[in-house]
Amino acid sequence: MSKTAANESVALTDTPSGKKLDYPLMPGSIGPKVIDIRKLYGDTGHFTYDPGFTSTASCESKITYIDGDEGVLMHRGYPIEELAENSDFMEVCYLLLKGELPNKAQKTKFERDITLHTMVHEQINRFYTGFRRDAHPMAVMCGVVGALSAFYHDSLDINDAHQRMVASYRLIAKMPTIAAMAYKYSIGQPFIYPRNNLDYASNFIHMMFAVPCEEYKVNPVLAKAMDRILILHADHEQNASTSTVRLAGSSGANPFACIAAGIASLWGPAHGGANEAVLKMLNQIGSRDKIKEYVTRAKDKNDTFRLMGFGHRVYKNYDPRAAVMRKTCHEVLAELGLKDELLDLAMELEKIALNDDYFVSKKLFPNVDFYSGIILKAMNIPVSMFTVLFAVARTVGWVAQWNEMIEDPAQKIGRPRQLYTGYTKRSYVPLNKRG
Ligand code: CMC
Repeated sequence: MSKTAANESVALTDTPSGKKLDYPLMPGSIGPKVIDIRKLYGDTGHFTYDPGFTSTASCESKITYIDGDEGVLMHRGYPIEELAENSDFMEVCYLLLKGELPNKAQKTKFERDITLHTMVHEQINRFYTGFRRDAHPMAVMCGVVGALSAFYHDSLDINDAHQRMVASYRLIAKMPTIAAMAYKYSIGQPFIYPRNNLDYASNFIHMMFAVPCEEYKVNPVLAKAMDRILILHADHEQNASTSTVRLAGSSGANPFACIAAGIASLWGPAHGGANEAVLKMLNQIGSRDKIKEYVTRAKDKNDTFRLMGFGHRVYKNYDPRAAVMRKTCHEVLAELGLKDELLDLAMELEKIALNDDYFVSKKLFPNVDFYSGIILKAMNIPVSMFTVLFAVARTVGWVAQWNEMIEDPAQKIGRPRQLYTGYTKRSYVPLNKRG
């Protein structure tokens, strides 16, 4: 638990009562200090008003740090660029979950432990047949991941650290299996069992694209790109889906139910659904000569159209993940020998938007989803699976944050208050007296 900064506080005057108040400032190891207002309501009878939590720290965390103005993202102190360049997804999972990079033996054991959980209970297969074949795979993910709590009863006790870790491993291990099954079901192909001799990314690609009747060899360049996509999406501090997981978990709900809640939150186009929305937008724009028209629409206050893949709540500078993703995007297209029209369109759109006063003055830079959509498309991942892939990657972040919350002695059930602006008390009007 952070300590209060010595002698640092913020003084306020409650003008209705004239009371002078003093609230301590809590420092982090880096980043803005926070005002500890836990006693505010007791002292004044007032709540604070902060829709969208733009000025509110909902928790203390040691996992991920973002400086949106400088374009910095670090996990446990390690810059994302260094992790993306030198590490791999399993190592990043270990780092997020346990706080340190693993040594060789720890890494081998962790990878083995994860692979021991890659299969799902055979009865889970039957869930899929209950869905329409044209169901959105995110709908299937919400249902199937939530249903895991009906199967793994020996890892539901959230007060037992061992059970929490088993549930975390299960979620990280099974998510690619569940995701690939959602895809296979949608195209009417048989499910492919996980292959524990493959690394995490290669196994996922194999389960997506192999068929039982012939050998499938995973392209190592694509596996590397997939691994990098997973690293870049692994965690992002208190974003909407992670906050959803924490809020759901704050009531003591089991981890599988909490992660299903996170998946639901991630689905929205303002969050994880953006990579899918980027592709739809590029298709809608269609050709270079239409870009100006769409950029004009994005700037029009009376038009709901926004440039998908641009802007971020926290980054008011280039998203550091987007820079890595942009490079990976070019590597993948070069490897595949693809000259993609949509990528050309995306590059032109990026150029125009980065030089447009509206986007420059509002600091709307391309975000990670702007490029990930293009790479995934080049890898033949269907557009409806883009957000699912984000969910696969983010699962480790969700479980790391969920574990941290449970272990935090300051943790309480999340229960925001409100500014009520509805009717004041009035008397019931019988039906025959209502106009
Ligand atoms: N196109 C056009 N105008 C935009 C855009 C955009 N993509 N994003 C923000 N603006 C404008 C917005 O209209 C507003 O203008 P004004 O100040 O004149 O009212 C201003 O910029 C600030 O926008 P905001 O909606 O108040 O900012 P926010 O922090 O609430 O929203 C956002 C952040 C990501 C939801 C938003 O930028 C957006 O909708 N972007 C497109 C969707 C997208 O790419 N989402 C992926 C986010 S990254 C993946 C993740 O971490 O989940």
